[in-house]
Amino acid sequence: MSYNIAIDGPAGAGKSTIAKKVAKELSCVYVDTGAMYRAMALYLLRCKVDRENPALIGEACQGAEISIEYKNGEQIVLLNGENVNAFLRTEEVGNMASVSSANPKVREKLLDLQRKLAESMNVVMDGRDIGTTILPNADVKIYLTASSLTRAKRRYLELQEKGEKCDLDEIRRDIEERDMRDMSREISPLKQAEDAVLVDSSEMTIEEVVKSILQIFREKVILSDEVGKNEG
Ligand code: DC
Repeated sequence: MSYNIAIDGPAGAGKSTIAKKVAKELSCVYVDTGAMYRAMALYLLRCKVDRENPALIGEACQGAEISIEYKNGEQIVLLNGENVNAFLRTEEVGNMASVSSANPKVREKLLDLQRKLAESMNVVMDGRDIGTTILPNADVKIYLTASSLTRAKRRYLELQEKGEKCDLDEIRRDIEERDMRDMSREISPLKQAEDAVLVDSSEMTIEEVVKSILQIFREKVILSDEVGKNEG
């Protein structure tokens, strides 16, 4: 039985944590598309491309070849052959990714890679436009969200744990700004696909969210597969 699960939602909703756990439960592969956009952003930052200049971004991104490898179940992002995982999770890269991912040339470069991964194996893929654009026929589509305050608090605790100085209001402003950019861009904006199930994790634990997604998967994929077999 082959299947794909798409999880979309705004920054900080817990997509990657949840998607990783769901993939582990189902023994399938977790594909983090945000990391691909981050690798592209890292390349653009290294090239010192002006983020306000879409034409330059569109031109410069042609020099970045992004590919994916899996080692011990972990996704490794290769930027022109270099493993860049260690450089992707900074605020600077995240903010650049939010700007550069609105560029059609950047999206075009990553679309094929994402579709091919989903064609070649069972995946839980998370991002912003997986259910709407990348995998419109995904077997399960989840739109995972939480209030901006909840998301800011989670990020604040994460940064504090790492010993980084941070300010809750600033993080919340940053998150709301990123939501605005991701939701209002012309190409592939973040929005709930018509056939996606909305999961609001504001008042839920990670385990509760994972459980509810596995339940949706069972109903949509396993049960319908069994019905299909019985009918066949
Ligand atoms: O999920 P993330 O924070 O790692 O994503 C970084 C940025 O990349 C985010 O601001 C929007 C963009 N992105 C996108 O446009 N489409 C995706 N499928 C994944 C991420």
